[in-house]
Parts: sequence; structure tokens; C-alpha cells
Amino acid sequence: MRVGVPKETAQREKRVALVPEVVRKLTQGDHEVLVEAGAGQAALIPDALFEEAGARIAADTDDVWGADVVVKVAPPSPEEIGRLGSRSVLIGFLSPLTAPDTVRALADAGVTAFALEAVPRISRAQSMDALSSQSNVAGYRAALVGAQLLGRFYPMLMTAAGTIRPAKVLVLGAGVAGLQALATARRLGAAVTGYDVRSAVKEQVESLGARFLELEAGKGAEGEGGYARELTDEEKAAQQRELSDNITEFDVVITTVLVPGRPAPRLVTADAVERMKPGGVVVDLAGEAGGNCELSEPGETVVRHDVTIAAPLDLPSTMAEHASQLYARNIQALLELMTDDQGALELDFDDEIVAGACVTRDGEIVHEGARKAAGVAA
Ligand code: NAI
Repeated sequence: MRVGVPKETAQREKRVALVPEVVRKLTQGDHEVLVEAGAGQAALIPDALFEEAGARIAADTDDVWGADVVVKVAPPSPEEIGRLGSRSVLIGFLSPLTAPDTVRALADAGVTAFALEAVPRISRAQSMDALSSQSNVAGYRAALVGAQLLGRFYPMLMTAAGTIRPAKVLVLGAGVAGLQALATARRLGAAVTGYDVRSAVKEQVESLGARFLELEAGKGAEGEGGYARELTDEEKAAQQRELSDNITEFDVVITTVLVPGRPAPRLVTADAVERMKPGGVVVDLAGEAGGNCELSEPGETVVRHDVTIAAPLDLPSTMAEHASQLYARNIQALLELMTDDQGALELDFDDEIVAGACVTRDGEIVHEGARKAAGVAA
């Protein structure tokens, strides 16, 4: 099987889909890996390291896009989709629920496309869960961004010049990114509190040494597949009110709240920001879906009511080397599932993971959520 690794072209994207360590495993397993010249440059991985690991560096982009399986990080541009053939297999982030034009174009081009966002969150697929591996990076980084923007210490300091109380950090949404943000802020010495509507995560939050913030609104709103359900309008309003009352005591609020395919819930209102202490910080990870904070400007850092509000969109790219390493292992695990003992591509659509991750096939959009998003009749 020939695997192609194009250079990422999306704005701010610094990751690369495979790293030399994974390339070595693939080439030792008799696969051929074609890496576009400079593909690893932004992640500080030179072509020479890919070559040493057994990859061929392709000067001609079309060679890479002509591989049996093309692996990418960011969704392909229309021009890139034009380079894929009707026998191509594409694996990467494809935003199946929010980028209907991309999905439609992939179907029209006859591409068999697998979206990493659609890999089912089941135990067997954990090693392929790129949403989680990248959210881990984002959660870690968000805690650091909060510390950097806060003009106060995170840890408690007992010095000859007196004692400084630890900063109080609140993390909204205790999924993968939220739990990592809590763990990281705690390692830096902050007093940490986590909040989520899913009651099941209370124990996980507490096991990190954090306090769990109990609110009445939306309590126990578990949805399907380990996700939360969307709250009703009434629940949302009640949650905003309760949060506004609680947020005032925190120095840093990190928001990671997501309901897949839906606009980000607005948990932190302008009023809540106004009630925070001057010098407070909000780090909003949900900027891509519109933001969890009413005053967030996706991609920007702004100061409102003396509170700094950052909504970075590219946190995994700020740690491109490690983010790529984790991502590449996710891809490797998925490729292993998609090849037979002889190393030939074998797509078993009876397999829950292969079928679940497949978004387009034989000219059709086959993923239920993506069909809905693209307006295809059921
Ligand atoms: P996840 O699905 O593991 O966690 C989201 C959490 O939010 C879940 O625990 C869920 O129960 C909770 N939640 C949902 N609705 C809620 C509500 N109304 N109130 C309170 N909690 C609620 O998601 P993950 O992987 O941790 O990602 C979190 C966010 O981080 C996503 O928005 C994702 O897009 C974003 N992200 C941002 C990056 C960046 O560079 N800005 C990079 C990677 C992820």
C-alpha cells in the first residue's frame, strides 16, 4: 500500500499527519510512504528524518495525492480534493458536521473519505481517537495560556515578604481538554475547580485533586455515546445565571464545552465577565464553534471590563511536534485496522470503527450526521 503525506496548507496549521517514527513502522511493514517535500517543516521535522525512516520525499505534489491512501490533518481545500481520484482513500479531520461543502465535494469526487471526528468513542478505538489526542494538547496549553495572561501567581507562595494565596482556576467542561487543563493548572499550584453537566465526570474531576462545582441547572444532562445532550433554552438561561454568580470568585476561567455539531453553548455571559475581578482571564477553547464566552473573538485576545479573554484556535499547532506525534499514532492504528495480513488495503465496512468513520463512499455521503448537515434526505 502506498501512503501519501501532503504538506498541510490550511492557515496556521503546523502539524503533519505522519512522523518519522510511524513512517519507520509503516515502511518496515512493507508499505511505501511518500512525503511531500517540506511537509514536516512547520513541525520542525526535516525531510532527511523522513527519508532516514524509509519514506520517499516527493517533489511533485501530484505523486503524493495519487497514493492509495492520503493522510492529512486539516480538511482538504477544494483544490486538494481536485487532486484526489475516484479510487482514493483519504483520512483526516474533515469537520463532517460543520463543513458540508467539503463533504459534498469529496462524495462528488468519488473519494472514500474517513473523518477522524467520526471514529466512535469506544474502547477499541481509543488508540485512533485523534479528537482526544489533540484535545489533550489543547487542554494542557490552555492552562499555560491562562497562567501567562494572568498577572498573578498560580501557586501559593510563602515567603519572607508574606504569603500569596494560590490562583483559583475554574474549568468548564470536564471532557478530554478540560481534565487536562485541570491537571496542568493543578500541577502549577493553582486551586482548581471543574464543572460539567455530566454527573459521571464528578469522580474524574475529584481524582485530579480538583473541586467539582455542582449547579442545579442541566444537572445530569448525559446524552449519547458519552457526550452531553444540548440543554433546553430554559436550562441554558438558568445555567448562565448560576455560573455568573459562581464565576466572580475565580482568577482564570477555561472553557471547553462542546456538543458535537452544535454551536458552542454560551456559558459565560458579558455580565459574568463584568463581575469577574479586574485582571481575570478567560481562555475559551470553543472559538471554532463560536465560543463559550459571549465576549470571545475567535482567534483573538481581547480585554473587556479589565478581563483578558483569549480564544485561540490553533493550540495543537503551537505544540506541533508532539501534537503530530500523537496524531500520527492515531493514524497508524487506523491504518492497521484497514490493512490485511499482507499489508494490502482492506476496508471492512462490517467493522464498527471503519463504518463509523467513513463519511463518503461510492459517490455518496454515508455518515448520518454529515448527510443531515449537507441536507441530504434520509
Ligand atoms: P469533550 O466532548 O471530551 O468535552 C466536552 C465536555 O463539555 C463534555 O464533558 C461535556 O459533558 C461538556 N458539556 C457539554 N455541554 C455542556 C454544558 N452545557 N455545560 C457544561 N458542560 C457541558 O470535548 P474535548 O475533546 O475535551 O474538546 C473540548 C473543546 O476544545 C471543543 O470545543 C474542541 O473543539 C476544543 N478544542 C479546541 C482547540 C483549540 O485550539 N482551540 C483544539 C482542540 C480542541
